[in-house]
Amino acid sequence: MKLEGKVALVTGSSQGIGQAIAIRLDQEGASVVINYRSHPEGAEETLSKVRAAGGLCHMVDGFTVQADTGMVTDVQRMIADSITHFGKLDILVNNAGIEKNADFWDVTEADYDAVMDVNLKGVFFATQALVKHLLKAKQPGKVINISSVHEELPFPHFAAYCASKGGLKMLTRNLSVELAPFGITINNVAPGAIETPINTKLLNDPEKLGALLQNIPLGRLGKPRDVASIVAFLASAESDYVTGTTFFVDGGLLWNYQEQ
Ligand code: BGC
Repeated sequence: MKLEGKVALVTGSSQGIGQAIAIRLDQEGASVVINYRSHPEGAEETLSKVRAAGGLCHMVDGFTVQADTGMVTDVQRMIADSITHFGKLDILVNNAGIEKNADFWDVTEADYDAVMDVNLKGVFFATQALVKHLLKAKQPGKVINISSVHEELPFPHFAAYCASKGGLKMLTRNLSVELAPFGITINNVAPGAIETPINTKLLNDPEKLGALLQNIPLGRLGKPRDVASIVAFLASAESDYVTGTTFFVDGGLLWNYQEQ
């Protein structure tokens, strides 16, 4: 197993991509911290899946922690609680993310703040709290941010979301240089359209879904496990020489342009 003896925190792991990542990292031998904001039952579901998936192979356990990753005091407490529970923290997967659909001219300050706080500010300060711990412990570590194809690709009517993901791209590039001397790597995984709760509306709209599928060369939406497998690689020693880059998991969506 790739992650034996490692401790990993996955934010927003009560559902969707985060849940799949927590399960996969556990299968690779890591102890996992499952974070949720408002769905303890989802976090419990992840925990029981983690136990079912990994329990027989190794004696580690999961642990759930409530925190709103849009609040700096919450993310600092989340990192501190993870370290207290398992004695250390090696891997941080900044997965929690939100999006709000609105015409640019209708976006409210509250919605702008909500998106930026969770998708960028929370990632910034969760990573900072992990890095302080790693520097003190003189340990290497891995940070993996779940970004989006929209760190690169425009997404009209989601301006704040795109700004947050574009910011995440530069944060990762910047920190890769600043943290490399300490053996800390940081990379982005950028999903395209994945079957998760963030896409519920789209999944229930046959017309929109059909149009989107036309744009995906591999002809299907992604599954959370498609994202989890690359996260497992980036969390492991197999990616030790990889930092500051983005891996797209999008069925080819980003590079597909067709004249209509
Ligand atoms: C968004 C989805 C969208 C997908 C492809 C993701 O980042 O969260 O709402 O369907 O990108 O555009």
